[in-house]
Amino acid sequence: MVDLLIQNASQILTLARAGLDAPYAGRDAGELGIVDGAVAIEGGRIVAVGADAVGTTAERVVDARKGVVLPGFVDCHTHAVFYGGRADEFEDRARGVSYAEIARRGGGIRATVRKLRAASDEQLNAAVRRHYDRFLRLGTTTIEAKSGYGLSLEHELRSLRALGMDHQLDVVRTCLAAHTVPDEFHRNPRGYLDLVCDEIYPAVAREGLAKYCDVFVERGAFTFDDGERALEAGKAHGLRGRVHADQLSRNGGARLACRVGAITADHLEYATKEDAVAMRTAGVIAVLLPAANHMLDQQERPPARAMIAHSCPIAVATDFNPGSAPTQSMPLTLNLACVRFGLSVAEALVGATINGACAAGINDKVGSLEVGKQADVLVCAVRDYRELAYWFGHNPVRHVVKSGVLVR
Ligand code: NIG
Ligand code: FE
Repeated sequence: MVDLLIQNASQILTLARAGLDAPYAGRDAGELGIVDGAVAIEGGRIVAVGADAVGTTAERVVDARKGVVLPGFVDCHTHAVFYGGRADEFEDRARGVSYAEIARRGGGIRATVRKLRAASDEQLNAAVRRHYDRFLRLGTTTIEAKSGYGLSLEHELRSLRALGMDHQLDVVRTCLAAHTVPDEFHRNPRGYLDLVCDEIYPAVAREGLAKYCDVFVERGAFTFDDGERALEAGKAHGLRGRVHADQLSRNGGARLACRVGAITADHLEYATKEDAVAMRTAGVIAVLLPAANHMLDQQERPPARAMIAHSCPIAVATDFNPGSAPTQSMPLTLNLACVRFGLSVAEALVGATINGACAAGINDKVGSLEVGKQADVLVCAVRDYRELAYWFGHNPVRHVVKSGVLVR
């Protein structure tokens, strides 16, 4: 007798490939591992999948009503701690003012920094909780979440602590203190980098507040050399790197990720086929963020097909943040990954599950439906997995099982 049995699915996407613990790439980039049968769950873990699970007696049965069953989404790039939105800037941008111009005027990231610093702990925690609740409703069961709107010792630590709140959602934290230079260091950007490397990272590491550090390598943010310095300093404190790379201009971020042994390079609109080869060789996962590409109406696109052709693994994430990607929806992001970046639905789904888990460093626990893994499982109200990306703008997720508990 198991705790929970999910049965009567039209398709079970296991995303499983026995013995493989590397991200899926190349020929496997669209391998969903579709099976018939059921999913049996006991003690928060998967105990049987497919034909093996059929007929298991269970305390509770979830009828999938001929829907698609798949692992919970792993959203491996979010900025989930902020307070208040920036709808005013959205309107300006719709009228033709660029994202870079808004940032130069003191808007953008720095506007959100001002709001976060002014928010009380109660307000900030309530905002994060709202975000976490919504992630679960949309079928996201694990996220990577970055600080980066604090930009001082006090507010970066406060942000990371808020992200660490007790909640059913699993959260892997990243310190993005090197997001941009805050107003008070306007005349002394080097001084800010000193603060990040010499005070913020050590404090974050001491309190165990993050697993990763991240740098925004971009005009108006940090240079390649700044980024290298920050990522090496983070590494010295046990924080492995991630890079906001080659998003709005070509700045070498992807190559920097390779050089410092970062786990991911993210965005990559200006990356090349050669970068994809270098990333494959260095074992860097490409994290593609089509919602930000859409929101900024960018005409440049990451070389997704070249990445697949050259076996560079791809993850797909929302980039949830109040500026360039105010969405938490992985289903919407799947649609955008197909339409804007030319991924197949299967490739996008791999990127949103098992490869997302690899990109968050937790593929031993989540990202696929395999015996022994955490029971994070979705039942969706569609019959064919391609419909998950096809019907866009609404939520196809009917049930969410998180660590074996039916939460929706
Ligand atoms: O990933 N690129 C830098 N940071 C975010 C945007 C942050 C913001 O606009 O608030 C991003 O797109
Ligand atoms: Fe981002």
